[in-house]
Amino acid sequence: MSSDPCSFSCPARCVTKHLNLSLHVDFDRHVISGKAALTVEALEDHFSSLTLDTRDLKVISVSANGQAASFTTGPKHSFKGTPLIITLPFHLSRGQHVIVEATYETSPSATALQWLTAAQTAGKKQPYLFSQCQANHCRSIIPCQDSPSVKHTYYAQVSVPKDLVAVMSAVRDGQEVDPEDGRRVVFRFRQTVPMPSYLIAIVVGALESREIGPRSRVWSEREFVDKAAYEFSETEAMLQAAEDLAGPYVWGQYDVLVLPPSFPYGGMENPCLTFATPTLLAGDKSLSNVIAHEISHSWTGNLVTNKTWEHFWLNEGHTVYLERMIGRCMVSEQFRQFKAMGGWKDLQDSVNTFGANNPLTNLVPSLEEVDPDDAFSSVPYEKGFALLYHLEELMGGPEVFIGFVKSYIQMFAYRSVTTDEWKNYLFTYFKDKVDVLNKVDWNAWMFTPGMPPVKPQYDTTLADACIALSRKWIKATDQDLSSFNESDVKTLSSHQLIEFLSLLLQEDALPLTHVKRMQEVYDLNAVMNSEIRFRWLRLCVRCRWEEAVPMALKMATEQGRMKFTRPLFREVYNFDKFRDEAVRVFLAHRDQMHPVTAGLVAKDLKVDASNTTSL
Ligand code: BES
Ligand code: ZN
Repeated sequence: MSSDPCSFSCPARCVTKHLNLSLHVDFDRHVISGKAALTVEALEDHFSSLTLDTRDLKVISVSANGQAASFTTGPKHSFKGTPLIITLPFHLSRGQHVIVEATYETSPSATALQWLTAAQTAGKKQPYLFSQCQANHCRSIIPCQDSPSVKHTYYAQVSVPKDLVAVMSAVRDGQEVDPEDGRRVVFRFRQTVPMPSYLIAIVVGALESREIGPRSRVWSEREFVDKAAYEFSETEAMLQAAEDLAGPYVWGQYDVLVLPPSFPYGGMENPCLTFATPTLLAGDKSLSNVIAHEISHSWTGNLVTNKTWEHFWLNEGHTVYLERMIGRCMVSEQFRQFKAMGGWKDLQDSVNTFGANNPLTNLVPSLEEVDPDDAFSSVPYEKGFALLYHLEELMGGPEVFIGFVKSYIQMFAYRSVTTDEWKNYLFTYFKDKVDVLNKVDWNAWMFTPGMPPVKPQYDTTLADACIALSRKWIKATDQDLSSFNESDVKTLSSHQLIEFLSLLLQEDALPLTHVKRMQEVYDLNAVMNSEIRFRWLRLCVRCRWEEAVPMALKMATEQGRMKFTRPLFREVYNFDKFRDEAVRVFLAHRDQMHPVTAGLVAKDLKVDASNTTSL
């Protein structure tokens, strides 16, 4: 087993095979308490001690096969948490199993959890709880081998107040009144496909659901459920396209859960139950590529998993590749090329933000003493995609290259892989084209910061209108402003409007007169599509339009998707006159924010952890 710089429990002399959870969700104390029983297999003889990952957990007792086991904890590390060192009262031989059971409770500040009051929900009547374990937060809810190199099945029983519903990243297995408390209900779940700990997920709230396909439902508070059912109605078609590309879907159910607005990501590929931000509810299905992306993770990420977070591009690069292949099936090859071009720009933005010499812009970075949440960017997604697209061109096009991707998935299914294993398999699969593969500058692609060594040439058919209009605005003098009108954008799709604004964001700020005129003719303030609104408000603030500042801060706080919230706060912070305002608004909302988002925005705005009072 290779070493995981983010986990105390790996490499280990043992591996978890199954996890049995019995949890009690306490909304008064903001605590989950219960038992986690790990079935652990010894990988060596004379095995009698193991280390688990924890973070802010209170461990009450530990047993091994029912016998009391002694335990101790090591020093707390800033992001790895606290190692829990367990000594078994006996020895195991290689291949033997032991059930290690910990009785414990979580801290109200568990980094994987956000506890919402009733007032913070859409329905206003019931509280809400959701988890986000990727990358290394599972350890704050379960003592476990919290490394993507370890895969196990799980079974869970979750007791919640009886007006609430619990769902998990697993297949539902019934419910009953809690035998220990008639005011509560126990929900049961089983996950029979081995998976890494970061895919464990739980939500408790006033949830409803609606069927949207033969193996799919949407879940959310009642207020969103119909809108979500419409928005994600292409789910089954996407699943079928994905199965054609990648092989059979092995997880049984594929549901989508729409979370409250503070959910920090666009989507999260929790098995059987994708989590989605409500900012995808555009009303016209135009942001459904996020669902195509999370569906794709059912193969790349959840079946074939990165061995450590240093190989995260294997998860995300292949998933973006599949996502865009689904776009190709459902729309066109031109649409795939258009999206790929947008991705190259996102990569350019990340390289600019991190700095072109920053080692975190390597496709395969070293994460020794680096918090994976701090390393997160578009790089693994878009440098990963660019490499796969480059290889696709070299190896003979999409039909040829998807054959490799499908075969890679079959080869490594149910396992965790490194970049080396991926590359060796690439050379094996294309054994007749090794001379071409040997011409690829692998070191530049994988271990060198900045933009990739080769820039792919994408078809510009769908981008041409966006490029032309953005050039016209960039070149325009004040006298030219009268030549713009409403009809400039009439024929642009929302995808093209996003691309138009992205192009403008890559340039120096436009004069303030220009953005004011743009508002006059296009009325972008009225557009509610989150991807358009986010770029538009950034552009306005970048161009020093003071009236846009409150709108930007409103969007940054009324939803919490980090892709939007972090750049919006940063943009206002960089507008000198409003720097203090950005900090003030952040401090005023910090307690209501998701713990990970709050931590990262604090770093972005250089607010130190002890600064709890508003300015
Ligand atoms: N698995 C990621 C989200 C994630 C990554 C959470 C790392 C925590 C740590 C998910 O699949 C993802 O990539 N979501 C994107 C979707 C987009 C690329 C289509 C997002 O959230 O925007
Ligand atoms: Zn992803």
